[in-house]
Amino acid sequence: MSTSGRILPTSAGGRDGGIIALGGGSVGDVAGFVAATYLRGIRLAQVPTTLLGMADASIGGKTAVDIAAGKNLVGAFHSPDAVFADLAVLATLPPRQLSSGLAEVTKCAFLADRESVAQLARSLESVRAGDLGAILAALTLAAEVKGGIVSQDPREAGLRELLNFGHTMGHAYEAASAYRVTHGEAVAVGMVYATALAERLALTAPTVRPELEDLLGRAALPTRARLPKGVWSFVLQDKKARGGKLRWILPRRIGQFSVVTDASEAALRAAARIVERAA
Ligand SMILES: NC(=O)c1ccc[n+]([C@@H]2O[C@H](COP(=O)([O-])OP(=O)(O)OC[C@H]3O[C@@H](n4cnc5c(N)ncnc54)[C@H](O)[C@@H]3O)[C@@H](O)[C@H]2O)c1
Ligand SMILES: [Zn+2]
Repeated sequence: MSTSGRILPTSAGGRDGGIIALGGGSVGDVAGFVAATYLRGIRLAQVPTTLLGMADASIGGKTAVDIAAGKNLVGAFHSPDAVFADLAVLATLPPRQLSSGLAEVTKCAFLADRESVAQLARSLESVRAGDLGAILAALTLAAEVKGGIVSQDPREAGLRELLNFGHTMGHAYEAASAYRVTHGEAVAVGMVYATALAERLALTAPTVRPELEDLLGRAALPTRARLPKGVWSFVLQDKKARGGKLRWILPRRIGQFSVVTDASEAALRAAARIVERAA
């Protein structure tokens, strides 16, 4: 932020200036936040260079910076004026980062329907091998699901909350691990956690989690993790941010999710044991 503060007055110009955010979701989030707040808002173009940036972070207008107290605690809504994604840049993306993006694509497929899950399952190997057609199809799936949701609920008054599937535990795990896991890895574990919690609460059949874990495993993402001790204090921060109650986005089945606000501590701990099993 201090660097942004030094650069902005000379580079971004006045109110008619703008920022081009060229990079991954981290760059997009910080540059987007600066564009949202500098002179109370200047123009923004997102040029995502990671799969996660293209599939998720550049869509929907959320910008944020992490602070010591937790992830994304400072942020603003600021829609980009344009998004340019050139799939060719993904050729240099490390495989771990490609997998990270696939976590958000998997999330979108699960939010959508069985056909989307089946389509993604069929194409995962090709995506990981760098097949541009398969990557474009995966991106299109994610963009249609996320774009469809945020266009109906741009400010997260309701429906948009569904996109937090895997993120209550995911964000906490990401922060508690001092960001040593990628965002996608944390979300993968968070989705397994949410599904295990849904099982414990008898909301979902025990067949859903194996389908999710199969997809995540084939995307080279973790499905188990040792949750650091500090994870619960980060989970509770999410509670503070939302009127005193945790809001878990839990699957009933593929394509059907519920917001649950009264999960017991016993259920939360039981779901943690499932995620930690054989980690
Ligand atoms: N605003 C949103 O709606 C939203 C949504 C999802 C995630 N996010 C945020 O996005 C962040 C993660 O973004 P990310 O996964 O893109 O990670 P990232 O931006 O941290 O980039 C990951 C790594 O890849 C490198 N990199 C980027 N493009 C490359 C390329 N083409 N070739 C080689 N290396 C490249 C980067 O230098 C970095 O080391 C998280 O902080 C997450 O919270 C925001
Ligand atoms: Zn995410």
